[in-house]
Amino acid sequence: MAKPHYKSARKSDRSSKANRRGSVAPDSKRIAGEADTKKAAEQSLPPRRRYQGERLKETTGVVLESPASADYALLDSGDGEKLERYGSLLIRRPEGQAIWQPALAASEWQKADAVFTGDTDEEGQGRWKYLHDDLAETWPMSFDGLKYFGRFTSFRHTGVFPEQAAHWHALQKAIGSATRPVRMLNLFGYTGLASLIAARAGAEVTHVDASKRAIGWARENQLFAGLEDRPIRWICDDAVKFCAREERRGNSYDVILLDPPAYGRGPKGEVWQLFTHLPHMLDLVRSLQSKNPLMTVLTSYAIRASHFAIHEIMQEVFTGMEGRIESGELILRHESGGRALSTSMYSRFVSPECVL
Ligand SMILES: C[S@@+](CC[C@H](N)C(=O)[O-])C[C@H]1O[C@@H](n2cnc3c(N)ncnc32)[C@H](O)[C@@H]1O
Repeated sequence: MAKPHYKSARKSDRSSKANRRGSVAPDSKRIAGEADTKKAAEQSLPPRRRYQGERLKETTGVVLESPASADYALLDSGDGEKLERYGSLLIRRPEGQAIWQPALAASEWQKADAVFTGDTDEEGQGRWKYLHDDLAETWPMSFDGLKYFGRFTSFRHTGVFPEQAAHWHALQKAIGSATRPVRMLNLFGYTGLASLIAARAGAEVTHVDASKRAIGWARENQLFAGLEDRPIRWICDDAVKFCAREERRGNSYDVILLDPPAYGRGPKGEVWQLFTHLPHMLDLVRSLQSKNPLMTVLTSYAIRASHFAIHEIMQEVFTGMEGRIESGELILRHESGGRALSTSMYSRFVSPECVL
């Protein structure tokens, strides 16, 4: 594995308390404390907007499966863990949903190059353990020929959510087949993979994330992918505040992606709580739709909700627009076939013009 420019992960990522601000913990299950709840209440939200018109055509219960690739495969799961292949590395991590027994022999699991151990609570004392001393913080990966870095981060994440590949393929197709310039807004954009995929497909991209560190990682990915000449605006901001400003400026987008965590923080400590802020955020997203929008994709790793909850809020805010709403789950299936692991829910608005 090439390493010269990689830094050691060990010190920076050992403490799971790192990154609490700016929240690089992408699907933090942290329960907000009393102070956070108070702060959220102080961030007074405007009244919800009312929409006129017809309810959109709809499809629910759609399961989007990302097949194993040379780059990524879910090899096995069970006993509260999963075993995955990320490029050249085998990684073993906690997986609360894997309540069954593993299919592969223990000797296969023991081959893992890196294991996330300890308290599986996102705020707990979990840490990475490496089989070899020479493992670096990052390693090369690729999606459909686009190079990026896998990364051992705090909170057991790897810098990529492989099940998002289902959305990335749709995104590439929608942007690639559009016959006009496409502007895309990527909210809660994390390590920037969706932004890079969209930019490669020809979109002009605005990427927003509250964490400077995550934006730094996204820019490293941009360089590694050789896409530094593409029009991508990297913005470190609170997603809600940014959208409110864009609305005042009269800006609009043809494609909007939002993958909000259950709980997060803006750069100035703004509290994000999915169940409190999502409806207001979607009001803003509706108002940022261009005259001829292509699609808006909402993913939620907050499994307290059913996909019908995010489906209905998307139905509400897109009422009266031309197009359809599709909602369901993203899953990953074991490379050997058979078992599937549910990772998140999604709901997407798709215009009649959008080719998927
Ligand atoms: C679930 S991840 C996004 C994953 C990404 N879309 C992907 O597929 O790789 C959540 C991201 O939201 C960011 N975040 C948390 N609170 C935020 C806020 N208030 N405004 C903007 N970004 C925020 C975090 O820094 C993190 O990078």
